[in-house]
Amino acid sequence: MNTTPQNPELNKKRALSCIQPTGIPTLGNYLGAMRNWVAMQDEMDCAFAVADLHAITIRQNADQFRRQIYEMFALLLAVGLDPEKSLLFIQSQVPAHAEMTWLLACHTQFGELTRMTQFKDKSAKHNDNINLGLFAYPSLMAADILLYQPNYVPVGADQKQHVELTRNIAERFNNLYGNVFVVPEPYIMKNAARVRSLQDPTKKMSKSDENQNAFISLKDSPDVIMRKFKRAVTDSEACVKYAEGKDGINNLMEIYAAVTDKKLDDIEAEFEGKGYGVFKAVVAEAVIETLRPIQQKFDDLMKDKSYLKQLMKEGSIRAQAVSHRTLNNALKKMGFVLV
Ligand code: TYM
Repeated sequence: MNTTPQNPELNKKRALSCIQPTGIPTLGNYLGAMRNWVAMQDEMDCAFAVADLHAITIRQNADQFRRQIYEMFALLLAVGLDPEKSLLFIQSQVPAHAEMTWLLACHTQFGELTRMTQFKDKSAKHNDNINLGLFAYPSLMAADILLYQPNYVPVGADQKQHVELTRNIAERFNNLYGNVFVVPEPYIMKNAARVRSLQDPTKKMSKSDENQNAFISLKDSPDVIMRKFKRAVTDSEACVKYAEGKDGINNLMEIYAAVTDKKLDDIEAEFEGKGYGVFKAVVAEAVIETLRPIQQKFDDLMKDKSYLKQLMKEGSIRAQAVSHRTLNNALKKMGFVLV
């Protein structure tokens, strides 16, 4: 993301997205979000962040949390995001995010927040810790987005509701104080927008699933990936066909389509007359080959923490410059006294 207003590239469309460091991302995070970010960085002015502040809405172990922040940053690089092309940073290292959250929280309605599916799910799952942060999560997410004035927010389908709320907050703010924010659009890829659990294909694949067989982690070894696909829940028809009621097979077909760029029709033809066992093994192989170079690069990067820290620092300096401009503008328009 450019930090100088004179830069002619400012005419490019802008995009921003973030990912929480709550464990190693899944194949769902990769196919639904991260892979698309890599494709976008050549066309747009992009910013991507590790949303560590969001992660503390549930309890984290400090040592593990620190490692996960490094790991997530390393993975952003390993999947192909390039700090020369995109702005890469850690959310907590840019104070304007927390400051802007307060301004936006005062323009987010209680009723809007209670309607958020993620809040309902997470508060049911962690019902001993339904904290204010969990409730206000979308205001922080709106701050992440609006500070960088993006036109697009590339996310998986599960985050669409939060981006819609961000639009409402931005419009409300602009109506009250004049044009402060660009009103962004969710940018959801058709393929693999919602990769599903391998064990319960009615649910999304999630890195916090208690059942390890339900998700493919980007760090899973080839053996583990093969085993998890072989155990994937399907149906009793033994026919590789994309159809209603065949959630398990539909999910595997979508994954296969996403990693090979093949069309669903062609996949049906490829596996005509072949059983699920053959299909599952081919899908697993395709996923293993997709992840292999990412895993290699990730392992190398994790050996050099000081390099990662240096890149974090450079990113935070650039992100502070961009975000501060928007924050100051919002404060000024609201009537705060800036010194
Ligand atoms: P998070 O960390 O849960 O997920 C990161 C991205 O991965 C997508 N995703 C999926 N896509 C397809 N299939 C799946 N099974 C799947 N699971 C996850 C998510 O949609 C997301 O795009 N609140 C956000 C992080 C965030 C953010 C932001 C995003 C914080 N601030 C600002 C965009 C802009 C979250 O928890 O994503």
